[in-house]
Amino acid sequence: MGSNKINNVLRLAWSAPAIIIRIIIRRLKDHRLRPIITVSWKAMRQKKRLPPGEFVALEPAERSDQQFLLKQSQRIGPVFKAIWGRRFCTCMVGLPLCRRFLEQHSDDLTPQSLELESFFAKGFLRRMQGEDHKKYRRLILKSIDSQLITRDSTLLEKIVADELAVFKTQQKGDTGPPERYIKTLKNIADQLLIYSFFGAQSGSDYFEKLETMYNLLGPNGLEWFPEDKHKRTFNAIRDYLLNQLDEHRDNEGSGLQRSIVGRMYRAGGLDETSLGNLIYMVEMGRYDMRLLFRWLSKYAAENPALLERIAAGKTVDHEGRVSLQEAFVLETFRLNQSERLMRIANRDINFEGYFIPKESLVRLCLWESHKSSESFAEPFTFNPSRFIHQHPGKDQFSPFGLGSHSCPFAQFSINMSSIFIKMLAMDYKVEAIADGPPIRARYHWQPAEQFSVRLTAR
Ligand code: HEM
Repeated sequence: MGSNKINNVLRLAWSAPAIIIRIIIRRLKDHRLRPIITVSWKAMRQKKRLPPGEFVALEPAERSDQQFLLKQSQRIGPVFKAIWGRRFCTCMVGLPLCRRFLEQHSDDLTPQSLELESFFAKGFLRRMQGEDHKKYRRLILKSIDSQLITRDSTLLEKIVADELAVFKTQQKGDTGPPERYIKTLKNIADQLLIYSFFGAQSGSDYFEKLETMYNLLGPNGLEWFPEDKHKRTFNAIRDYLLNQLDEHRDNEGSGLQRSIVGRMYRAGGLDETSLGNLIYMVEMGRYDMRLLFRWLSKYAAENPALLERIAAGKTVDHEGRVSLQEAFVLETFRLNQSERLMRIANRDINFEGYFIPKESLVRLCLWESHKSSESFAEPFTFNPSRFIHQHPGKDQFSPFGLGSHSCPFAQFSINMSSIFIKMLAMDYKVEAIADGPPIRARYHWQPAEQFSVRLTAR
């Protein structure tokens, strides 16, 4: 045999396994083994090391144990691999590590979030990159009125107080069914957000119309894969708001003009994308806030003595850094609601000696990072005073994210939640009904499905 022929035979022998593996991968289509074989083969070919750990399916593992990822990180180390859905996923625990990863690779990553590019030009802020992200983020930050809470505190407090009072009157035989309490929390979140963003007050025709349309946009919570019918509702909200802005153009003191959308309009920053973003922020935010109010209610029921102190107005019992109700909210964020940042790798990444293949997921674990016993003594105990005596640094506590995509509504959420817990504490004693272990719902962990409260007037 000539040397050419030998070379051809060797090349064939060498590429045969590659061809076979590619055929297997193609055949496996949606099979759960596909991501495992694909990434292992890719890492092997490139002589790279995947993160340690097993290819464990995260969803079922987490559902059965909220601490699953935390335990994995303690057993394996702060970077480890898993499978999420049908995708390879690299998990990271520890805020300095997560921050370092984002700093080194921000250009190689896309945040995973709602895809709204077919609804408005540049899509959702969370997924934007580069100059577009900078521009729209700046516009939004500029439109948030720093005076909102002080100026409108009476109105905001009344929203919470009125809805809780309605719930109290509807309690049957001293018990409030969970669906009724969820509806109360939903009404509060909707009103706080629709007022702050669009200046519409409950009871007005303007508010009723917006609320009706929002209920069509997400009747059962946030729709992760919006369809044509959602787009039609979105368009109706957009057109209605544009109409209102036009009608009230000269009405200087109106709630609409002072609202986030009004301020943006007057500053000349309102375009298709910024308006689309505001509409969807309310949609996502009202869902998040409703869930957060449930967590706050659970901790309220479990900590009557703290509620007494908030009710007694003992809100600043320290060196004057944060109020007790704010510390209550921060401790709730530390224990729950703030869970993870999700990114998709746009290209192959090498990080701290590990290979993160293109198109795979990266999960930056906030919930787990907030349970570090080095940062927080007795990390599973609800203890707001840890925020009163000393505020943890950003390497210990970052419930609103890390880096350029961190939550522009962090202070807004803390303020609204502080109002919620203050009004709950001032007016009622709170007892838990049907409390139990938290459950993993569609997007977040939540208190037990049947959890509700019994309110007794103080
Ligand atoms: C319930 C409490 C809330 C929590 C725990 C929270 C948490 C977060 C986190 C962790 C991020 C970073 C996401 C990432 O990097 O992938 C984020 C971003 C964001 N949040 Fe919040 N958030 C809350 C409430 C809200 C509310 C009420 C709004 C608006 C109504 C809002 C609007 C946004 C937006 C627009 C971003 C994306 C910012 C960007 O990409 O530049 N959030 N939030």
